[in-house]
Amino acid sequence: MERNELDENTGTSAIVEIIDNGPIKISGEIMFWDLKRDITDSPSEIYLCRCGKSSNKPYCDSSHKMRL
Ligand code: FES
Repeated sequence: MERNELDENTGTSAIVEIIDNGPIKISGEIMFWDLKRDITDSPSEIYLCRCGKSSNKPYCDSSHKMRL
């Protein structure tokens, strides 16, 4: 899906994917806000940590792949 283009099948401009044993991938037309509600970025896709191990939260840094 091209940025700024609504998906014809879903009517959405962003897609949220839960990656098995990994992060949440958000792609499409998005704005990413920090806790102070300042716009920090407007990427075309981001990967958000959902395992709690990332040292770069809220982003995934692939720490979920490491074994203990
Ligand atoms: S999901 Fe990748 S580091 Fe947490």
